[in-house]
Amino acid sequence: MKLLVTGGAGFIGSAFVRLVLAERPDCRIVNLDKLTYAGNLENLASVADSPRYSFVKGDIADGPFVMDLFAAEKPDAVVHFAAESHVDRSILSPDPVVRTNFYGTFCLLEAARVHGVARFQHVSTDEVYGSIEEPHDADEQYPLKPSSPYSASKAGADLLALSYRTTYKLPVTVTRASNNYGPYHFPEKLIPLMISNALEDKPLPIYGDGRQIRDWLYVDDHCRAVLAVLEKGRPGEVYNVGGSLALENVEVVRRILAATGKPESLMKTVADRPGHDRRYAITSEKIERETGWQPCMPFDDGLALTVQWYRDNTDWVRRVKSGEYRDYYEKNYAQR
Ligand code: NAD
Ligand code: TYD
Repeated sequence: MKLLVTGGAGFIGSAFVRLVLAERPDCRIVNLDKLTYAGNLENLASVADSPRYSFVKGDIADGPFVMDLFAAEKPDAVVHFAAESHVDRSILSPDPVVRTNFYGTFCLLEAARVHGVARFQHVSTDEVYGSIEEPHDADEQYPLKPSSPYSASKAGADLLALSYRTTYKLPVTVTRASNNYGPYHFPEKLIPLMISNALEDKPLPIYGDGRQIRDWLYVDDHCRAVLAVLEKGRPGEVYNVGGSLALENVEVVRRILAATGKPESLMKTVADRPGHDRRYAITSEKIERETGWQPCMPFDDGLALTVQWYRDNTDWVRRVKSGEYRDYYEKNYAQR
C-alpha cells in the first residue's frame, strides 16, 4: 500500500507519518509538503532514513504539478492533511488559506479522480459546524455554519470532497476532529503558545473572557482515528473525532500553569478574536461504533507529556520561534 500524505511535515501529519511507518510495515509513504512556516522536516528526523518513506516538496494548489506527481507515484490512497490551519492567521491573511485549503483540495481531488485512487481521506475539523449552543453536541448531520476564513475554507473543501464521491464515485471519507494538542505543535495555537510563553515567563494572552469552550484531543488519538477511517470507514461518509473533554480556555491555561509550576499572574486578558466561536462540542459515536476507535489519552497525562516535550526540545522551539514567527506574533498580539 502506497499512501500519499499531504502536509506530512506539519504537527498532525508528521505524527501520522511516524505512526503509520511504525505500525503498518506493509505501507510506504510519500509525503507532499510545501514547507510553509508550519512545515518542518525536523518533525520527521526519526523516519527520514526509512526505505518506506520519501519526501516531495511541492504545493498542493499547483494543479499540473500535482497531476504529474500522481502519474509518477501512483499512490493507492491519499491522506490529506495539508492546510493553512490557524484561525488567527486566516483573519489576518485569508488569501493563502482559501488557496491552499479549498483550491489545493480541488487539485488533489482532480488528480485522485483522473488516476483512480482507491481511497481519499480528507482531514477536516469540527470548526466547520461553527459555534454550538448548549445543550447540543454536533453529530455528522449538524448544519455547517463556519465563522472564520479558516473554517469556511475547510467546510468548502469538505463539501467539494463529498461531491467527488457523489458525482465521480471517488471513494472519499471525511474526518472532522476537535482541537489537537501534543508534541511538535507550532506555538501559535493555544496550548503550545501558553506552554512556551510560561516556560519563558512571558504573559499568557487570553482572548476576551477566556470562557470559550474547546474539546481537546491528543494528537496520537487523532492519528489513530484517521487510520481507522482509512482502513474501516465507509466511502462517502463523514466521521467526527472528539476527545470527549470540553474545557474553558482559562481552565486549560490554569492547568498549563500548574504543570509548568508558574504563577497565575502570568495570565493577561487581551482583546477578543473577531468572530470568535464560543463553544465547540461534537459526538464521536459514529466512528466509535463503526471502527472501534476511542480516544485513549487522559487530558492531564497528555498535557504533562506535552509540557515535558517542550522542556526537552528548547532548540526546536527556539528555531520555530525565530524569523517569521516574530513578525506574526507582533502583528497578532501587539494591538490587542
Ligand atoms: P499545521 O499547520 O501544523 O501543518 C500544515 C502542513 O501543511 C505544514 O507542513 C505545511 O507546510 C503544509 N502545507 C500548507 N500549505 C501547503 C500547500 N499549499 N501545499 C503543500 N503543503 C502545504 O497543521 P496541523 O495542525 O497539523 O493540521 C493538519 C490538518 O488537520 C489540517 O487540515 C487541519 O485543518 C486539520 N485539523 C487540525 C486540528 C488542530 O487542532 N490542529 C484539528 C482538526 C483538524
Ligand atoms: P486555537 O488554538 O487558535 O484553536 P481554534 O481557534 O482553532 O479553536 O485557539 C483555541 C482557543 O484559545 C480559542 O478559543 C482562542 C483561544 N486563544 C487565546 O485565548 N489566546 C491565544 O493566544 C490563542 C492562540 C488562542
